[in-house]
Amino acid sequence: MNATCVAAIGLQWGDEGKGKIIDWLAEDARHVARFQGGHNAGHTLVVDERELVLHLVPSGILQPQCHCYIGQGVALSLPALGEELHTLDQFGTDVSTRLTVSPDCTLILPYHQALDVAREGKAGKIGTTKRGIGPAHEDKVGRRAVRLRHVLTDDFRERLAEMADRINCELVNLHGAKPLDAQSIGDELLAQAAHVRPLVGAVATPLATAKNNNEKILLEASQGTLLDIEQGSYPFVTSAGCTIAAAAPGLGIELAPQVIGIAKCYTTRVGMGAFPTELTGADAEFLTTTGGEFGATTARQRRVGWLDIPALRHALALNGCTQIALTKLDILGQLNEIKICTNYADSEWVPDDAALTKLQPQYTTMPGWGTLATVTDYADLPANCRAYVELVAELTGAEISIISHGKGRNETLRCA
Ligand code: IMP
Repeated sequence: MNATCVAAIGLQWGDEGKGKIIDWLAEDARHVARFQGGHNAGHTLVVDERELVLHLVPSGILQPQCHCYIGQGVALSLPALGEELHTLDQFGTDVSTRLTVSPDCTLILPYHQALDVAREGKAGKIGTTKRGIGPAHEDKVGRRAVRLRHVLTDDFRERLAEMADRINCELVNLHGAKPLDAQSIGDELLAQAAHVRPLVGAVATPLATAKNNNEKILLEASQGTLLDIEQGSYPFVTSAGCTIAAAAPGLGIELAPQVIGIAKCYTTRVGMGAFPTELTGADAEFLTTTGGEFGATTARQRRVGWLDIPALRHALALNGCTQIALTKLDILGQLNEIKICTNYADSEWVPDDAALTKLQPQYTTMPGWGTLATVTDYADLPANCRAYVELVAELTGAEISIISHGKGRNETLRCA
């Protein structure tokens, strides 16, 4: 990855280990920018045996030379950002001169969260993180969102009043919930925005300058390609774009990045929806427990399954991606027998949940490789582990350029 600009994109249903890989890739980067998603994301970093979970701030923030950006494509909850800044402060990380937040972020307001919670209480739920992501994006594409800029210029009360009328109507009449008061929400917003104001600034301009100066830039996606609003397992997806296509509009500049796809060597998914390679029984229990497969944002137990090559091929093609960082090889290898879904009978990936439930995965079986010691050279990995990695490369047509086999920074290695 010698390109000036590299984008790290999840190739599955999120939780691929993006936080860890971005922190590692950021070692020689100067800039790290988030361009979509919101605080539905949970990126876990382990540094010197201390764990930090980030939801909004880019995962390069623990590399002291990195300047981080939250681009306008991120749906921004001001209270969540405030909490995260406090967590970082307690972690001993000063972000005051190293974090820039776009004024054009769409705000996630208490109305959006209340709607998300109310709708999830009903039949037909998606299994969302209940952070208000969907309703906030509805207002964004409905061209009636409140953006951070509006609050900073005191130009938002009218928009808020419209939102109050409309969303309170749904909350009260459809869900039997209590209405929310626009005046007090507006007052809180002003206080929260004042707190963030020193961090607000242009995102595209410094990134353009960095690119001209050949300074390394990392772009950080959240969620994963299979949760993409267009090409994921619709309707059981998030409400944002999760592929590289979301980067330019989410940052305000096309940086022509080289894309590295992050994939876990098995598959996990939180929430409802089709999961062609889902696994139950003892192997599932092992992966869940040993792999710590519980959501970093909601603590929900993740569903687990075998690696799904047709889904990966779809994700690679969508992102124009030819390189994969493969994570969690230390966990999967402890199974005696490992399966890989090589293809579906008579079909490729379809971006439709109902169609996905009908697919019949075809598998090949491989032996495990046991636990892994900390190694720095690919050649020192057990032969069965290398055989697995090489099969994934062959089946996807991608190069496996990075391997992760533990939580720590020293448990990541380059394959070439
Ligand atoms: P929402 O993004 O909260 O609306 O949730 C929609 C779907 O995306 C649900 O299945 C969530 O579990 C899933 N989801 C959202 N964010 C993440 C993430 O960061 N990791 C994994 N799944 C996520």
